[in-house]
Amino acid sequence: MNILLLGSGGRECAIAWKLAQSPRTENLFIAPGNAGTASLGTNINMSATDFDAVARFCLENKVDMVVVGPEDPLVKGIYDYFANTPTISHIPVIGPSKEGAQLEGSKDFAKAFMMRHNIPTARYRSFTAENIEEGYAFLESLQAPYVLKADGLAAGKGVLILPTLDEAKSELRAMLDGMFGNASATVVIEEFLSGIECSVFVLTDGKSYKILPVAKDYKRIGEGDTGLNTGGMGAVSPVPFADEVFMQKVEQQIVIPTIEGLKKENIEYRGFIFLGLINVEGNPMVIEYNVRMGDPETEVVMPRIASDLVDLMEGVATQTLDNRTLEIDSRAAVTVMLVSGGYPGNYEKGKVITGLENVKESILFHAGTAEKDGNVVTAGGRVIAVTSYGTTRREALDASYRSASLIEFEGKYNRRDIGNDLEKL
Ligand code: AMP
Ligand code: GLY
Repeated sequence: MNILLLGSGGRECAIAWKLAQSPRTENLFIAPGNAGTASLGTNINMSATDFDAVARFCLENKVDMVVVGPEDPLVKGIYDYFANTPTISHIPVIGPSKEGAQLEGSKDFAKAFMMRHNIPTARYRSFTAENIEEGYAFLESLQAPYVLKADGLAAGKGVLILPTLDEAKSELRAMLDGMFGNASATVVIEEFLSGIECSVFVLTDGKSYKILPVAKDYKRIGEGDTGLNTGGMGAVSPVPFADEVFMQKVEQQIVIPTIEGLKKENIEYRGFIFLGLINVEGNPMVIEYNVRMGDPETEVVMPRIASDLVDLMEGVATQTLDNRTLEIDSRAAVTVMLVSGGYPGNYEKGKVITGLENVKESILFHAGTAEKDGNVVTAGGRVIAVTSYGTTRREALDASYRSASLIEFEGKYNRRDIGNDLEKL
């Protein structure tokens, strides 16, 4: 079949890599894609949120399925746009409806959903400029540190964790005054949870579900989880503490109530659910829902899916996921992100990348790259995810670091401690 994948990052490169392996895939288009996806399919210069252009492209190129990488088109309603446009309503979109995408698009919606369905999460309340005084009082009832979340999408920057009550109050005012524009017109204040995090991915057709390999990502720029937050500096899968007992709890207390809750509320959902979880003394609690795969987690999750992804997605589209099999590769997979010097602050683009052809023992998922004058050049803060397999995580990491050292571009930086925190658990 002909597949159109929307997005342009490392996540999409990993999904494209997996889709391209399927004997079912005839033509794979990636819009807009990057220099890595160009070797897996055909890049199309088209924005993922220009729905009219996407629809036209699908008709002209006989696209049989649209796979959505990032949250933006989902929150803007691409699923509903297709479902409600007669000429394209036969083309399945892998992703939730606009209402389902609110699980990521509105923290307030997500928290209220979890409350309704008894899903373990931090205690919270939501506030607007109208009841800011109540917000201050709620903060006073909590212990430090204080967690403030912009309700809407804020490019991953909408969560503030403040050490003192004074700072929490002044940041609450600033958020309600428009620190993140309309996204922080409502602010969720919640209890701080202490524990180690992991990412659980679920594929659902709205009736049944499959739980994909668990991963852990590393968000800070500096080793030892220090410095500024980034889009993700690396990831590992599996995650040792997410053992059978923990995953049983995840399934019973979180996955099943989530799927059942969506069903009960008649919310159409045929796509990925990303559970951002925290392990609080052996019990999983939800930090956040996302309605897409994670980045860079996808760069370790896709390599661990042994089954045909197109077959699974077809199961999602036709609500026959129950009849499909999901086999997991038992090896560990890790990814180490190579980033531009200066990232996540200011950095330069357009640096020529060399040595890619020397990498033999890893898979390179391009994140921010482009082709220019016959060269592959940097085109973003996160440049290339270097993924490796190993019988152990250590073996996989050593392979990724060896491969990383073969790739050069001016200002290249990568963390060298991915997964080290899991050693002592
Ligand atoms: P989010 O954008 O919701 O993923 O939040 C960003 C990060 O803030 C999470 O990955 C957590 O590390 C942290 N965080 C969010 N909510 C809480 C909470 N209630 N307690 C502790 N840490 C949190
Ligand atoms: N790795 C976290 C995210 O994709 O949001």
